[in-house]
Amino acid sequence: MNFETLIYEKKDSLAYVTLNRPQALNAYNIRMRDELYQVLGALKDDPEVRVGIFRGAGERAFCAGADLAEFLTAPSPIVARQVRGERDVWGLFLSITKPLIAAAHGYVLGSGVEIALCCDIRLASEDAQFGLPEPGLGIIPAAGGSQTLPRVIGGAKALEILLSGRWIGAEEAFNLKLVNRVVPRNGLLIEAEKLARRIAEFDPMAVSYAKQAIIRGLDLNLGEGLELEARLAASLL
Ligand code: COA
Repeated sequence: MNFETLIYEKKDSLAYVTLNRPQALNAYNIRMRDELYQVLGALKDDPEVRVGIFRGAGERAFCAGADLAEFLTAPSPIVARQVRGERDVWGLFLSITKPLIAAAHGYVLGSGVEIALCCDIRLASEDAQFGLPEPGLGIIPAAGGSQTLPRVIGGAKALEILLSGRWIGAEEAFNLKLVNRVVPRNGLLIEAEKLARRIAEFDPMAVSYAKQAIIRGLDLNLGEGLELEARLAASLL
């Protein structure tokens, strides 16, 4: 598959999705949205793929958020909403039951944070900086971030970070549990691959059910969650 804004590669049972607009710090534009939609579909449906790794091209950024040049000339909110209905990238992202790992370096802003939050495990390099500049631009996160962030770091911290527009470094992101681990810049991909390979050795169905038990369970009360676990465990047998 050849794309303009992304690189999609498969190696063994791993799929690599690289956000590839390094000249614009991998800012997320309409083209990237359309291409991401295709790539996520491929990753989801391809039985050869067991784990996905998301990363950013170039030295400086995982993703610096929505493309501001395009944003300023974007079609009306009504058109934007129609497009979203036709192409729900974030719904598709969050519906993937295979494990997804984000390997984030440099600037991780706006939709960059939200892409990382659509992944299950986040590794950050020491130089990573996270921020949600949306309110400063008169908008709010629209790639799921207002819902995914508080589920990961809790409501109070999510509110503080979103409302203040304050950026946080890798160490604070780790302390907030926004990222699972902080690694040196040159070890980021290596560590992501090591983790992905380990997961890929396990039975893919068990891995998928384990992910579903936790992710879907987070939206349930304990009783419902235990029922979900029992159902998944039984269907695995
Ligand atoms: N959309 C479009 N282009 C972007 C971009 C974005 N979100 N972020 C960076 N770029 C482009 C810059 O325009 C610049 O392009 P140019 O070389 O053609 O001028 C290039 O990427 C490098 O960015 P630059 O601003 O020169 O780097 P910097 O080190 O001075 O600053 C940032 C880096 C991340 C602080 C700054 O680029 C920035 O604030 N970006 C916008 C972040 C943002 O608000 N995103 C929207 C979230 S909703």
